[in-house]
Amino acid sequence: MYFKTSAVAAAAVLATSALAQSGNSLVDVITGNSDLSTLTALLTNGTFGNFSSLVNTLSNSTNGNWTIFAPSNSAFDGVQITNSTDLTSILSYHTINGSHPSSQFKDGSNIVATNLTNSTYDHFPSGGVPVNVKVSGSVVNVYYGANYANVTSADNTASNGVVHVINAVLMPPSDVNSTALQAGLDKFVNALNSTNSTEGINKKSGITIFAPNDGAFSSDALSKYNSSQLANILAYHVVEGLYYSTNLTNLTSPMNITTEAGSNFTLDVSGGSVKLTDVSGNETAHVIKTDILTDNGVIHIIDAILIPAQNASSVPTNNTNITSSSGVGSLFESREISRIAVAMTVMSAFAALML
Ligand SMILES: *[C@@H]1O[C@H](CO)[C@@H](O)[C@H](O)[C@H]1NC(C)=O
Ligand SMILES: *[C@@H]1O[C@H](CO)[C@@H](O)[C@H](O)[C@H]1NC(C)=O
Ligand SMILES: *[C@@H]1O[C@H](CO)[C@@H](O)[C@H](O)[C@H]1NC(C)=O
Ligand SMILES: *[C@@H]1O[C@H](CO)[C@@H](O)[C@H](O)[C@H]1NC(C)=O
Ligand SMILES: *[C@@H]1O[C@H](CO)[C@@H](O)[C@H](O)[C@H]1NC(C)=O
Ligand SMILES: *[C@@H]1O[C@H](CO)[C@@H](O)[C@H](O)[C@H]1NC(C)=O
Ligand SMILES: *[C@@H]1O[C@H](CO)[C@@H](O)[C@H](O)[C@H]1NC(C)=O
Ligand SMILES: *[C@@H]1O[C@H](CO)[C@@H](O)[C@H](O)[C@H]1NC(C)=O
Ligand SMILES: *[C@@H]1O[C@H](CO)[C@@H](O)[C@H](O)[C@H]1NC(C)=O
Ligand SMILES: *[C@@H]1O[C@H](CO)[C@@H](O)[C@H](O)[C@H]1NC(C)=O
Ligand SMILES: *[C@@H]1O[C@H](CO)[C@@H](O)[C@H](O)[C@H]1NC(C)=O
Ligand SMILES: *[C@@H]1O[C@H](CO)[C@@H](O)[C@H](O)[C@H]1NC(C)=O
Repeated sequence: MYFKTSAVAAAAVLATSALAQSGNSLVDVITGNSDLSTLTALLTNGTFGNFSSLVNTLSNSTNGNWTIFAPSNSAFDGVQITNSTDLTSILSYHTINGSHPSSQFKDGSNIVATNLTNSTYDHFPSGGVPVNVKVSGSVVNVYYGANYANVTSADNTASNGVVHVINAVLMPPSDVNSTALQAGLDKFVNALNSTNSTEGINKKSGITIFAPNDGAFSSDALSKYNSSQLANILAYHVVEGLYYSTNLTNLTSPMNITTEAGSNFTLDVSGGSVKLTDVSGNETAHVIKTDILTDNGVIHIIDAILIPAQNASSVPTNNTNITSSSGVGSLFESREISRIAVAMTVMSAFAALML
């Protein structure tokens, strides 16, 4: 069911609500802001569930301090909310423990764990599903996956926290392939699919993906590799652990990173640019977009494809036929397979890549 704000209904709710109390709690700040009347209605009118316990938490400073990214009325236009579990998750994703005024967010990415810990959405090793509060001069955006909301009114201060009004509803990030598609990484997604690597990468928890952009796939440099080798090349772009840009900014010397393909690449930060060099030193890539959150980690977009040791040095030999269950798709679980050269029909993989 889609809904629109009814100013009249919301006003009626407010007038009769026990919430309309004096004071300066988060609840007072939200209910007192006419641009947050849809949010107020959702919290209080019961249509999508009973949120009285959340309202209590937010009205009493003995329950801690919270930062709320509060969607404005127009932010809810076209947003589909069907039931209370849905809304509970969405609201948790807008809530951060502690009071974080905008002055606490540094220029660039700020990766902040939200209160969303429901295991349907949370495949992070610790903390809740994060948002990326990205600051660029006076513009503050809250990124969720490839999408973002603008902060339209920051620092509405309450006795137990702060409310930042945003112009879109934040949705918990999605899986790797869906997020990558939204980020315009069509060829990377095709490559994952054509090598049956999609499920394997989605099942991982707490990973960093250096995803080559479409331009990186446009050369025919990959045409000499078979599907198994291509899967290994993709695995070379996946790293166990959460390396947000904020983890890498302080690097003073090149860092060796172990990948899911077994072999390493080097990551170097200098002069504001992040450079990756593969093990042979033949290929370098630059990070061109950072910190796109997925439900299990983070994607950084790079402008070239790196080649791991096994593929840089070896030419396919013939043979072991492998099934998809023990095969390429499981590369992300077992690295051994990368050493097995497999004779397979490779054209379909590359046909997909060249789209
Ligand atoms: C409660 O508020 C929501 C959001 O404004 C609205 O869609 C719904 O119709 C309201 N329900 C009632 C009973 O007023
Ligand atoms: C706030 O919460 C505390 C502890 O739960 C309770 O004792 C107190 O009465 C509450 N205050 C208000 C104004 O609800
Ligand atoms: C909430 O913030 C206030 C003011 O910064 C502080 O005094 C208080 O200790 C905080 N409460 C909790 C539970 O962290
Ligand atoms: C709640 O809504 C979500 C998403 O629309 C749906 O997947 C889920 O099955 C619904 N749950 C209930 C209890 O209706
Ligand atoms: C987690 O979210 C899913 C999907 O919205 C829902 O079905 C489930 O009830 C939620 N679990 C808890 C503990 O809220
Ligand atoms: C955040 O999550 C914790 C643990 O589930 C819960 O106790 C707390 O009430 C939540 N806070 C808010 C504001 O939703
Ligand atoms: C919203 O954010 C985008 C992306 O940072 C920016 O280009 C745009 O100017 C912002 N809009 C407003 C109204 O601040
Ligand atoms: C994924 O690859 C399979 C072949 O393995 C193909 O049938 C399917 O259409 C592809 N899906 C997408 C979304 O490209
Ligand atoms: C991918 O999986 C499908 C279905 O399990 C299988 O038919 C196909 O051969 C596999 N492709 C590769 C490249 O392993
Ligand atoms: C992403 O991959 C999963 C398999 O892990 C699949 O179920 C889903 O449909 C894919 N999403 C898109 C947008 O292709
Ligand atoms: C990156 O920093 C976050 C805290 O900001 C930390 O949780 C995470 O473990 C760090 N990642 C690595 C790979 O050290
Ligand atoms: C990077 O250095 C800055 C300034 O020295 C410091 O505030 C920040 O915590 C450091 N970040 C990490 C991830 O170590």
